Amino acid sequence: MEAIQSLSAMQVWSDRCHKDNQSIGFVPTMGYLHEGHLSLVRQAKAKSQKVVTSIFVNPLQFSPSEDLSQYPQDLRRDFSLLEKEGVDCVFVPNVKALYPQDFQSKVHVTELSKNLCGASRLGHFEGVATIVLKLFQIVNPTFSFLGEKDFQQIRVIEQMVQDFHLRTKIIRAPIVREPDGLAMSSRNKYLTADERERASILYKSLMQAKAQYQAGESSTSKIIDATRSLIQTVRPTKIDYIQICDANTLEDMLQVNKDSRLFLAVYFGHARLIDNSELI
Ligand code: PAJ
Repeated sequence: MEAIQSLSAMQVWSDRCHKDNQSIGFVPTMGYLHEGHLSLVRQAKAKSQKVVTSIFVNPLQFSPSEDLSQYPQDLRRDFSLLEKEGVDCVFVPNVKALYPQDFQSKVHVTELSKNLCGASRLGHFEGVATIVLKLFQIVNPTFSFLGEKDFQQIRVIEQMVQDFHLRTKIIRAPIVREPDGLAMSSRNKYLTADERERASILYKSLMQAKAQYQAGESSTSKIIDATRSLIQTVRPTKIDYIQICDANTLEDMLQVNKDSRLFLAVYFGHARLIDNSELI
């Protein structure tokens, strides 16, 4: 496995693949890898001739009050996991190279960034879209793999790819969960043992909502109320949002239908956990 830090070396590596007619599968990450990330790597391996994973904790997508400085990191472990998966190249750019002092351009995907996490994390999706565009420009991937755990992020990036005529194809990957249903996340590390146990309610609440819809309930407010009641039984620190939105536009819906998705953001201690599920 090759480790590349410089942007120009990454571009040369990518150009060589394209010249040899080899497809590149790309998995962008912020590191501290877990099975969720590795599932993306495996899908990239299966679909592409060369696989690149990037590890970069992107300061632009964290607000001043968020966890940038505490974001967990373990590069040595990440490298060894990626090596075992047979990744061809790990791209680890540094902040100064990606954001030099005179950096001033940002990508703003207007409508899809408004609701859900976009409403509570101002500027977050601007930071995500900007770094992902930059990574796409440098890596020039044939396919790019993104997890449905961050569903709004996928929609924002898909829209950016469409709007800017980018040539990478976005592949969505399903959420990987712990045995009790908690969605894997680098942020789960912040949970105490007690919070970790209580956090499994999120998956249970998604399953309850699904069962309610499948039993014939189509009122959004009734499903959301029942979801809130169940989550409150474990006394989370704070419920940020529970919303049912159209999976394409991410706008709130009054009635649930086959295009609906339930989205949750709930704090346990300092950890803000997100999860989502279709309801069909
Ligand atoms: P990060 O949180 O490290 O996630 C990297 C990729 O792994 C994302 O596509 C995310 O959706 C996916 N992922 C995380 N947990 C998952 C799980 N349990 N199941 C399936 N996929 C999962 O998302 C980011 O980094 C950043 O915003 C990034 C896109 C790299 C831009 O900085």
